[in-house]
Amino acid sequence: MTLSHHLLLRLLLLLGLLSLWHCSADSADPLGDFCNKDTKIGSEKASANIDHLLVELVSKASKNGFLATSYGSGQYLVYGLAQCRGDVGKEDCSTCIQDAAKQIRTRCPNEADARIWFDYCFLRYSNTDFIGEVDTGFGIYYYNVDNVTETERFNEELSKLMEKIRSQAVVPQNAGLGKGQTELTPFITLYALVQCTRDLSPLSCAQCLAIAVGNFPNFCENRKGCRVLYSSCYTRYELYPFFFPISSAQNFSSTQMMMVYP
Ligand SMILES: *[C@@H]1O[C@H](CO)[C@@H](O)[C@H](O)[C@H]1NC(C)=O
Ligand SMILES: *[C@@H]1O[C@H](CO)[C@@H](O)[C@H](O)[C@H]1NC(C)=O
Repeated sequence: MTLSHHLLLRLLLLLGLLSLWHCSADSADPLGDFCNKDTKIGSEKASANIDHLLVELVSKASKNGFLATSYGSGQYLVYGLAQCRGDVGKEDCSTCIQDAAKQIRTRCPNEADARIWFDYCFLRYSNTDFIGEVDTGFGIYYYNVDNVTETERFNEELSKLMEKIRSQAVVPQNAGLGKGQTELTPFITLYALVQCTRDLSPLSCAQCLAIAVGNFPNFCENRKGCRVLYSSCYTRYELYPFFFPISSAQNFSSTQMMMVYP
C-alpha cells in the first residue's frame, strides 16, 4: 500500500485545539493518547498483569531512559515499552514516565492496546507483541499556525537538517536520537530533533523517520514548527530551541493539534 493511499484511508480528525504551548511544557500534560478500541482487557488477571508491567516500566525506564519488556504468560501476556527522549535528563525522564504510567490507565481503562505521548517520553502496552516493529498507523501532528515567509530556502534548509539528524539517529551508539540546528539568518535558527524507539533496528528507525518526514508536506507544509508523533518515532522542528541543553530564552508558540487514526 502506498503512503498516499494509506493516508486516504485514514480518518482525519481535526480537534481544532488552539492552545498556547510553552516549549518547556509541563510533563504532566500529555500530547495525546491512543486507546485501541478494537482491543479489550478481558479479565482481572490481564488487568493485574498490566499493572505489574507498569510498575516495572516505571522503575527501570526511569533509570535507563528505556525499557521494552513483557509480563505474564499465555492469554494474559502483555508487552510494554517506555522511553524518554534521549536529550532529556534523568529527573525529567523519571517524572515523565511516572506521569505516563499514572495517566494511561485512566485514559484507556478498558483497552489492552494503549499508548500515551508526552514531549519528554512515550509509553505503551499491548496484548500483542509490537517490540521491534515499525508502527506509524496512528499519528499525532502538532503544527505552528504561523507560516514561514521564505518557503523555498526554509524547506531546503529543513530537508538538509532533517537528513543530517536522521543519519545520526541510525548510528547505534546514538540510541535512536538525532538533533541539530541551522542558522537561517543571524537572528533565526532552525532546531530539529528526531527520536526512534530503541527497540528498532537502524533500518526500521530509518523507515519510521522517512515516513514521518515524508508527511511534513501533508500536515506541516511551510509551518514554522511541526511535531509528528508515532508509536515508533518522534520528529520535531521549531524556530526556537526546545531540546536539551536549551541554549537561550524559552518562547511561546501557538500550536494546533491534529490526530490521524489508522
Ligand atoms: C498558513 O498557511 C495555511 C495554508 O496555506 C493557511 O491556511 C493559514 O491560514 C496560514 N496561517 C496564517 C497564520 O496565516
Ligand atoms: C519570542 O518569539 C517572538 C517571535 O517569534 C519574538 O518577537 C520574541 O521576542 C520572542 N521572545 C523571547 C523571550 O525570546
